[in-house]
Amino acid sequence: MRIPRWSEIRELAQFETPNLNSRERALARAASLSDIRAIAKRFTPRAVFDYTDGSAGEELALLRQRQLFRSVEFRPTALVDVSNVDPSTTFLGTPVDLPIGFGPTGFTRMMHHAGEEATASVARDNNLAFVLSTLGTTSPEDLQRVAAGGNNWFQLYISKDRSITHDLLDRVESAGYSTIELTIDTPVGGIRRRDIRNGLTVPPKLTVSTALDMALHPTWVWNALTHEPLEFASLKNSEGTVGELLSRVFDASLTIDDVSWLRDRWPGKLVAKGVQSVTTSKELSAAGVDGIVLSNHGGRQLDRAPVPMELLPDVVAAVPEDCEVYLDGGITDGADALAAVALGARGVFVGRAHLYGLMAGGRSGVRKVVELFREQVTTQMALLGVRTLADLSPEHIRFR
Ligand SMILES: Cc1cc2nc3c(=O)[nH]c(=O)nc-3n(C[C@H](O)[C@H](O)[C@H](O)COP(=O)(O)O)c2cc1C
Repeated sequence: MRIPRWSEIRELAQFETPNLNSRERALARAASLSDIRAIAKRFTPRAVFDYTDGSAGEELALLRQRQLFRSVEFRPTALVDVSNVDPSTTFLGTPVDLPIGFGPTGFTRMMHHAGEEATASVARDNNLAFVLSTLGTTSPEDLQRVAAGGNNWFQLYISKDRSITHDLLDRVESAGYSTIELTIDTPVGGIRRRDIRNGLTVPPKLTVSTALDMALHPTWVWNALTHEPLEFASLKNSEGTVGELLSRVFDASLTIDDVSWLRDRWPGKLVAKGVQSVTTSKELSAAGVDGIVLSNHGGRQLDRAPVPMELLPDVVAAVPEDCEVYLDGGITDGADALAAVALGARGVFVGRAHLYGLMAGGRSGVRKVVELFREQVTTQMALLGVRTLADLSPEHIRFR
């Protein structure tokens, strides 16, 4: 046995300056979306985390989509030159760096005070599409300012009171949005059992049962108290309580005629989100939409809803080629996005994934999520033997 020299040990020992911030340390080490979710859970009050993480009923719709993604088996092609993999594509004709966009989420500043300003600016910096919700906590005008130059879409709920919708469409048009994404799966709100059990109200109220939870998350509470109060920034001109407002925002009488009305009213691109059947897809493309998002709202509306990934091949076959088909729900890995593209999706949207990043670490958390997705997509493309997304085909996957 010989005693090693210090110079040999020094080469092996790559001691880094310790990072004393436990949140940053955890983020730096996160290797998957489930790691990011765990950090989010640690730093966010339970009711808020559950509002994001949960879905409706027995939460079967989301579970089924996740299970289907897990059952994907990739079928790689070897001996293909993949020294330069290119994961970019276009969403409605606009170039994007990855086939993954940030879908609309309401109440985003409740998850973390940085809210849409963080999520939209990270999307812009990474050249990804971003969709602002009607129930967002940043106004359409402010969002265009904080994420200027981004590929920003606006998600619309057509209100019972059409004057609200007219007003919103005027504002969104003058703020320069290219695309309206109309959500059609929300005639009424879904039944979210976790929120009922947690006594969640929007905005959250301090009750005896929430006080302890809040006390365990002082940073979140401090930030919530020292930043702009939560509000539905797009709807602040309309009067009434939050409950009254929400009951006006969802119109249970919406039909395909309203989609045709919107098609005539809105000069830009129009996408329908929350599509759950081949028949509806055909109806929508006949009404002139430019795109369809197969979605069950991440399982937050109708529980036991169809699994978007299962609908995908039939919908792609049923609509004209110039109607782009997207999908969302349960995406937790770049590999899920690749599987959807292989079956004919133009791309996918994520909801919880970027919110987990936001809750885990504000803007740096969202950046980390994109970093993970980028690495997962490019590495898996190389391992699959595809250089561009256009090279992906149904032959690359099968379900086990
Ligand atoms: C907290 C939260 C709020 C949401 N708010 C909206 C919304 O205001 N409008 C909408 O069309 N979809 C909304 N969604 C649905 C998402 O756009 C998307 O369909 C869903 O999150 C996709 O599933 P995933 O979270 O598993 O990626 C929301 C989702 C979450 C998690």
